[in-house]
Amino acid sequence: MKSLVVYDSVYGNTRKIAEAIKEGLSEKYETKIIQASEAKAEDTGNIDLLVVGSPTHGGWFTEDVKGFLNSIPEELLKNTAVASFDTSMPQEGQSFFVKLITRIFGNAAPRILKVLGKEGAKIIDSEIFWVLGKEGPLKEGEEERAKQWAESLSNKKV
Ligand SMILES: Cc1cc2nc3c(=O)[nH]c(=O)nc-3n(C[C@H](O)[C@H](O)[C@H](O)COP(=O)(O)O)c2cc1C
Repeated sequence: MKSLVVYDSVYGNTRKIAEAIKEGLSEKYETKIIQASEAKAEDTGNIDLLVVGSPTHGGWFTEDVKGFLNSIPEELLKNTAVASFDTSMPQEGQSFFVKLITRIFGNAAPRILKVLGKEGAKIIDSEIFWVLGKEGPLKEGEEERAKQWAESLSNKKV
């Protein structure tokens, strides 16, 4: 079975989570990892599981993730299992402005899943991983949690 992890990252934290997810999936899947700016719709052909992740920016995913999601023709994801993740700041780490934005707009991961769902994919799960500031670092233990989450995806899918 094959899986693909597509992610975006400005400061490297989401990349670390994506790599941990790849590691978790690799027990069960032949797994590729691609940055969203490099990913093409055809990369999603012939895969069993697609995992897409982004840093949360103003409650949304990044432009590169948006570009990737928009590039996927609907029929390509029919019967493909999909999951999403983001990195976000917990409320206590946020400035007043970001706190307000997060409260109003939410997080990237559920939005990614919603787009993929509209494209006909089979929704499995979404998860948020925490950074302690805009540039990181990741909260302690998040990479291990990401690996475990990825392992749990393999089980949910079958
Ligand atoms: C322009 C911008 C907007 C952001 N907006 C949010 C937000 O709405 N909610 C939030 O929790 N974090 C927000 N953050 C913090 C990001 O979550 C954080 O930079 C990201 O998780 C780090 O991941 P990366 O190292 O992969 O870029 C924002 C960061 C930037 C740069």
